[in-house]
Amino acid sequence: MSDSILPLAARNLRYEVNGTVLIDDLSISVVPGSFTVVLGPNGAGKSLLLRLLHGLIVPTSGKIDWSVGAELRGRTLRQRQAMVFQRPVLLRRSVEANVRYALKWQGAGPGELKEAAESALHRAGLADRRRVPARLLSVGEQQRLVVARALAGKPDVLFLDEPTASLDPASVQQIESLLIEANAAGTAIVLVTHDIGQARRLGHEIAFVHRGRLVESGGAESFFSDPQSDAARAYLKGEIVV
Ligand SMILES: Nc1ncnc2c1ncn2[C@@H]1O[C@H](COP(=O)(O)OP(=O)(O)OP(=O)(O)O)[C@@H](O)[C@H]1O
Ligand SMILES: [Mg+2]
Repeated sequence: MSDSILPLAARNLRYEVNGTVLIDDLSISVVPGSFTVVLGPNGAGKSLLLRLLHGLIVPTSGKIDWSVGAELRGRTLRQRQAMVFQRPVLLRRSVEANVRYALKWQGAGPGELKEAAESALHRAGLADRRRVPARLLSVGEQQRLVVARALAGKPDVLFLDEPTASLDPASVQQIESLLIEANAAGTAIVLVTHDIGQARRLGHEIAFVHRGRLVESGGAESFFSDPQSDAARAYLKGEIVV
C-alpha cells in the first residue's frame, strides 16, 4: 500500500473556541488497516476530533501529518479519505448517480466507473433501487447508500460519526458488515459510537475521549476487560461521567 495517505499522526491537537478549550493536547495515530472505535460521554469532543482529523476544522495548535508528499497534498488527501455523519447526506439525484458522483470525485476513471458503481450498489443491497431518487429511500437505506458510496473508491481511511444511531438492528448489521468487509480489504476505519455492543463487535483499538482529552487508548480486549481510567470505568458501567 505504498500510495496510502496513512499512517496519520495527529500530535498535541488543541482546539479552542472563544478561549474555551474543547480539544486539549490530544495525540492519536491511524495506521493502515486499523479499526479504531472512539468512545466517550456526550460533549467529550469525539465529533470535533473526527472533524479535525478529516480536515473540516483546523486545530488552534498541534499538527496533523498524513503520509503523503507535498506534491500530492490537497486533492489526494481529500480523495483518499471519507466521512459519514449521523444523518445521511445525499445529493438530490438517483441512488446510482450518488455513487457515480462520489466515484468520480474519488478519482475513478471512466473504465472502472461502471464496475465500481455496480459493486457498491450490490454491496449496499440497493442494486434494484438504483433509479430511485436517493431521498425517497428510508433513513436506514440512505445511510447504507452513504456508507457504500464513501467506500466505493476504496479510501485509505473512513471516519464515521455515530452512523447507526437511528437505525434498526437489521440496518445496523448491514452497515457493520460493510465496514468489516472494507476493513478486511485494507480501509482503516475510525468510528465514533455510543453503542458498546457495536464497539465490542467492531473495534480492534479503542480511543476513549473525556473532556477533550484522549484519556485511554489501546487494544479493545484490554479496554473492555480492564479499563484503566475512572472515566472509562464509569462510562462502561452506564454511569454519568463528569
Ligand atoms: N463551534 C463550537 N463552539 C463552541 N462549542 C463547541 C463548538 N463545537 C463543539 N462545541 C462544544 O465542544 C464540546 C465537544 O463537542 P462534540 O460535538 O465534539 O462532542 P461529542 O463527544 O461528539 O458528543 P456527543 O456524544 O454528544 O455527540 C461540546 O461541549 C460542544 O458543546
Ligand atoms: Mg458527537
